[in-house]
Amino acid sequence: MSQATSAHPPVELSADERAELLAALSAPLPSIPSRYLYDDHGSALFEQITDLPEYYQTRTERQILETEADRILEATNAVHLGELGSGAGRKIGLLVEAAQRREACRSLTLLDINASFLQQSVRSLQQRYPDVDVRGVVGRFTQDLDRFGEGGRRLIAFFGSTIGNFHPSQIVPFLRRLADITGPTDSLLVGFDLVKDVRILEAAYNDSAGVTAAFNLNILRVFNRATGADFDPDAFEHVAFYDPDNRWIEMRLRATRPVRATVPAISWVRDFDVGDELRTEVSCKYDQRFVQAYAEAAGLHLSAWFTDPDQLFALAVLRREVT
Ligand SMILES: C[S@@+](CC[C@H](N)C(=O)[O-])C[C@H]1O[C@@H](n2cnc3c(N)ncnc32)[C@H](O)[C@@H]1O
Repeated sequence: MSQATSAHPPVELSADERAELLAALSAPLPSIPSRYLYDDHGSALFEQITDLPEYYQTRTERQILETEADRILEATNAVHLGELGSGAGRKIGLLVEAAQRREACRSLTLLDINASFLQQSVRSLQQRYPDVDVRGVVGRFTQDLDRFGEGGRRLIAFFGSTIGNFHPSQIVPFLRRLADITGPTDSLLVGFDLVKDVRILEAAYNDSAGVTAAFNLNILRVFNRATGADFDPDAFEHVAFYDPDNRWIEMRLRATRPVRATVPAISWVRDFDVGDELRTEVSCKYDQRFVQAYAEAAGLHLSAWFTDPDQLFALAVLRREVT
């Protein structure tokens, strides 16, 4: 018999956070924002996921970078690099080295919500590239882009198809904010996971070792700590499936027994019956036509598209429309 998790002490939430959480949790299908997947344990689990045989995304994106980094630097002419949601920062080095081969990499700025993971990657990149000014910004890419620093011959990478975690209705506003911090000599390099055989997609989020399940369930512990909620992780199981209408993988948590969850800071209470679900992440899948349409709607244009021979993943170079 599992034990109920005791409520965490009251936590101060901003008015914006309260409104966001109330809207997310009160929807017919309640959800928890996917940024709560990442504490130190969640980030370490994500790193394990990237090495799983089923998780083709990381190795494919890396393969594209290994093949195309020089052409990407040639197309963008960048000497300043940045990465949003950098995590362990294991791919950006390929661009640093390509910039150094071509001219120079003067600076590298990483932004991530997870402070300790960010510190570790800044430290290891500083050791690897002592001539580069490496800087970390702890923040959210949804609201802290202005803390990313000045532009000018800058290439900002957003790897891992993390952009896919935005609901389709949020992607154009997000790209517009990126366009706002992008000057005429700057570029964006965004990783997009492509639509493909549903079996490949679903296997990537239902690995046989159960690491994605542990990653998904960890969101409840992070959320409890951050908000004072009392979700019992032992009362839920991992679910992930492809929704062809929305063209996204959806990760959910499903109650395996009747359980009550509360978030006192927003006076939210819900009794989950067996089988009731909670959404924890969407991961949208794209094709080139969609990316082009999103970019144009945000005042950007798709200036280059790099993909792998099996068309599993793509890296898009986006630049501001010249008006
Ligand atoms: C899917 S992982 C990708 C990590 C790495 N870029 C890669 O390609 O392997 C998402 C990363 O974004 C960070 N992250 C998630 N939500 C965030 C947010 N709202 N603001 C900033 N970073 C966020 C996480 O901490 C994590 O490092």
